[in-house]
Amino acid sequence: MLLTRQLAFIFNWSHSQIFKSTPIEMIYPIVAYGDPILRKVAQPVPKETDLDLKKLSDDLFETMYASAGVGLAAPQVGLSVRLFVVDGTALNEDDPNHEDFDPSLVGFKRVFVNAQILDEDGDEWAYEEGCLSIPGIRADVYRAETLRLRYEDLDRVEHVATFEGMAARIIQHEYDHLEGVLFTDHLPPIKRTMIKKKLSNITKGDVKVDYRMRFPR
Ligand code: NI
Repeated sequence: MLLTRQLAFIFNWSHSQIFKSTPIEMIYPIVAYGDPILRKVAQPVPKETDLDLKKLSDDLFETMYASAGVGLAAPQVGLSVRLFVVDGTALNEDDPNHEDFDPSLVGFKRVFVNAQILDEDGDEWAYEEGCLSIPGIRADVYRAETLRLRYEDLDRVEHVATFEGMAARIIQHEYDHLEGVLFTDHLPPIKRTMIKKKLSNITKGDVKVDYRMRFPR
C-alpha cells in the first residue's frame, strides 16, 4: 500500500487510476535502463492486495502492444511487484507447416502472478533478444530449453506448468525482470564492453525510440 501510494505520488497518478477498474486502458511510459527499479528484486503480490491486478495487467498488455513487445514486467512500468504479462502469438508463423512455426507460442497470452521457477532443463540455446527498457540493443542470449514454473493466474489460482521453446524464453526474460536482472547481464564481458556507451546513452535519454519512455534523471 505504501509502495503504491509512493508510486501514485511519483507518477502523479490518481488513486482511481491504480485501484479502481475503469474500462479505459492506460499506456504507461516504459522505465529505461539505468533506473534503479529495474535492479530491485520485486515484491510478491500478497493474497490480500489493494492492487487491481486485472486493471494492472490490462494496462501492461496495452503498454506492451503499443511498443510492439511480446512480454512486459511490472517493474518496467515502475511497479516493483511480481507480475508480468506475455503475448507471444504475434511472434509465431501463421502456417503450422512453416519450419519456424513454434507450437509453444500457440495461444501463449497470459498473466503470471508471483511466478517461481522451480527448475530449468535441457540444452541452452541462443536467440537474439531485445528489451523494451533497452531500446536499440539486441544480442544473443543463451537460456535453458525448458522450465517448470509455479504461478498464480488473475483469479489467484495456483498452477504448475512446464514451458519450452520460445514461450520458455519469454518467461525467462520477464522473470529476470522480477529478479532485477536484464538480458544484457547474460552477455559475455567483451559484448558488454561493446554496448557500454549505448547503454549509458539510453540512461541519458539519448536514444531513438517510438514509444513513450521514462528516463532516469
Ligand atoms: Ni525486458
